[in-house]
Amino acid sequence: MAAFEYRDEQLFVEGLALDELARRFGTPAYVYSRAAIEAQWRAFDEGLGSISHLVCYAVKANSNLAVLNLLARLGSGFDIVSGGELERVLCAGGDPGKIVFSGVGKSEQELCRALEVGILCFNIESEAELERLNHLAGEMSCRAPVSLRVNPDVDPKTHPYIATGLKEHKFGIAMEDAVDLYRRAHDMSHITVQGIDCHIGSQLTELEPFAEATRKVLELADELLASGLELTHLNLGGGLGIRFRDENPATPAVYTGLLCELVRERPFKLLIEPGRAIVGNAGLLLSRVEYIKHSGSKHFAVVDAAMNDLMRPALYQAWHDIVPVHKCTDIDSETYNVVGPVCESGDVLGAERELRVTAGDLLAVHSAGAYGFSMSSSYNSRPRAVELMVDGNEVYVVRERERVEQLHAGEFLLPD
Ligand code: LLP
Repeated sequence: MAAFEYRDEQLFVEGLALDELARRFGTPAYVYSRAAIEAQWRAFDEGLGSISHLVCYAVKANSNLAVLNLLARLGSGFDIVSGGELERVLCAGGDPGKIVFSGVGKSEQELCRALEVGILCFNIESEAELERLNHLAGEMSCRAPVSLRVNPDVDPKTHPYIATGLKEHKFGIAMEDAVDLYRRAHDMSHITVQGIDCHIGSQLTELEPFAEATRKVLELADELLASGLELTHLNLGGGLGIRFRDENPATPAVYTGLLCELVRERPFKLLIEPGRAIVGNAGLLLSRVEYIKHSGSKHFAVVDAAMNDLMRPALYQAWHDIVPVHKCTDIDSETYNVVGPVCESGDVLGAERELRVTAGDLLAVHSAGAYGFSMSSSYNSRPRAVELMVDGNEVYVVRERERVEQLHAGEFLLPD
């Protein structure tokens, strides 16, 4: 069963009609398919089956507790970038021993908490961070397991905002500085060197950049091993793209096949950090048309979801497919800009879409399972959308719609 498919001109998620979900839970609503999430995670896990490995789901893509819990039940590891994500993984039943901690700006508090719970590895992004971690681990009388995140200077050929592996980016340690820093790390009293880490960007639709980065990491690994350093794992990051429109990214099977081929025969455990490719096409944003508006030659479908709910089109000019929940043939087709109620001209979920819609109709914005809700805000004091998880013929509210009182919580007036 496909996660999202039309039956009798009606869009379904697994066994449930979206129309019914909108009636019961209102709109805007994020709707996820449990089967799709699990199938994608398994595709990565099985793809690496022939070598020692751990799939560390990148929590930032979708950090809903239910999503994390489903993956924890499958035995997933997690890639986190903040203390907040750490607490989410723990709260969802994730194993701290399978957590890797990435990010350029880890605070003392975040490092201490991660040491306290005993995570698998810190992905270190600078010399200063390494020194801070060594010092904190010393104070806590423990050793911190680390990988150095190297910057392989590879062009991932993706949107500039989500490319990370070029020299000019803030991420990682320059390849030419890596060997020296590994020696320093090795000599530090409270650091245990575990591996090499690298992540070059997100929404990669070609495999060659992954291969190039992996080859560079393997070269470095050889050099380190030759100099007597021990390494347990290689972490090749995340970044595999998904199809939004007409992109043709490799499947997880083909991508993991390539990694296995490159790393095979080496004595390393392989870690990867996919986010988008696990949840991206396992979720959509369900929205209702409030008004149809014609202005000069322009036609607008004003919907009840907005850039605060799904920021990607406004931030990255990202294209998300927008489809009617009921395929209707008795309305004329028109070219619409699908826009939200937020007071910004950039609040466009989709420009120039050919649609047959009228006020009150439901639209589904596809490929919204990753970096959708997790990047949402309450801008314009709009409560955040409800999140629903469909499992066969059942639906579960995995985050209730935010209430206006919650938006005011923690704010105070000055005294008279
Ligand atoms: N590992 C690290 C260190 C990362 O920085 C990221 C994503 C990932 C793994 C997961 O990458 P993925 O497999 O999801 O591509 N908000 C942007 C994407 C930002 C990605 C940031 N880092 C978007 O909506 O396209």
